[in-house]
Amino acid sequence: MTTTLTAWSIERYGAPEVLTRVTPPMPVPEPTEILIRIRASAITRADGMMRSGRPLFARPFLGLRRPRRNLLGTGLSGEVIAVGDKVTRFALGDAVFGEAGLRFGANASHICLDESGVLMKKPDALSHEDAAGMCDGPLTSYHFLHEIARVRPGQSILVLGGSGSLGSAAVQIASAAGLHVTATCSARNAGLVADLGADRVVDYTREDVIALPNQYDVIFDTIGISSYAVARARLTEDGRYICPVLTLGLLGAMLISRVVGRRRALFAAAGLQPPETLRRHLESLLVMVEAGTLAPLLDRVYPLADLIEAHRYMETGHKRGNVVVT
Ligand SMILES: NC(=O)c1ccc[n+]([C@@H]2O[C@H](COP(=O)([O-])OP(=O)(O)OC[C@H]3O[C@@H](n4cnc5c(N)ncnc54)[C@H](OP(=O)(O)O)[C@@H]3O)[C@@H](O)[C@H]2O)c1
Repeated sequence: MTTTLTAWSIERYGAPEVLTRVTPPMPVPEPTEILIRIRASAITRADGMMRSGRPLFARPFLGLRRPRRNLLGTGLSGEVIAVGDKVTRFALGDAVFGEAGLRFGANASHICLDESGVLMKKPDALSHEDAAGMCDGPLTSYHFLHEIARVRPGQSILVLGGSGSLGSAAVQIASAAGLHVTATCSARNAGLVADLGADRVVDYTREDVIALPNQYDVIFDTIGISSYAVARARLTEDGRYICPVLTLGLLGAMLISRVVGRRRALFAAAGLQPPETLRRHLESLLVMVEAGTLAPLLDRVYPLADLIEAHRYMETGHKRGNVVVT
């Protein structure tokens, strides 16, 4: 085995060009760790936030003047090539997927992770490319729909940004849960989003869906394009505006909606839930994959060497589902 691994590092915040290829020593697994040869890893909007240090109010977590963590990437899929002597959940040769979480460093050739983290055996039904994106869109949307909004069959949902990583998963998860799904995207993605399970697709370039006189039990603003103040009028009496993009406006809306009326604005950091909770959600998602009700949407695949290009594309704000490097 080689003695070094290939990874990408950031010493300062900035545009994709701040990413630098590095070759740190190959880690040796601690007793409860596994060493994974990474076959595919995801490039997400959260990675863009880590790299750019934006929005600024995230800096206390990311590092005030420079990144606290130098290596990038969380979602990954690969094979176990070494195990610590106390590992019980995995064995040499297992195909696994999951996320590195706050350890980062998934955009690399290898990584050592504790077996108690968000790691699962990869079924054959999922390619490494599809599995690498499972912890971004599918896992986050599952958490928002089932834990935060607690959706029920027969409810109606509006998904803003239905063709993105979170949106494409949300449309499938909501449809499988028996909701009536309305989703927004541009015309080029309308057919795709309808195929994912949306009952109605609204082209946001032609129509302002919030101005239309419909009511929804849940509005999932996957890209933070609207606000509780605006969307509130389209919520049922006890409807939920759920949004994964934290802003000061959303924070204020969460506080106010807790004390005024029955509608709520809600945010969560899905990746910060306990690993056992996230593994349970992944198990439910794998049941959906097995049943054919969830197929992660894969957009572009880049070689790991082209990480800068992959970041540039991710930041256009128009990717369809997931972008991965292999
Ligand atoms: N809180 C959490 O736990 C958590 C976890 C993961 C991610 N996030 C956050 O969630 C956000 C969404 O991430 P993502 O990866 O799903 O985004 P994304 O994939 O970049 O979303 C892009 C999609 O949004 C659509 N879009 C762009 N402008 C639109 C508009 N005005 N109206 C409707 N759709 C529009 C695009 O469709 P067209 O190309 O058709 O325009 C594109 O398909 C990010 O900010 C990320 O940081 C939060």
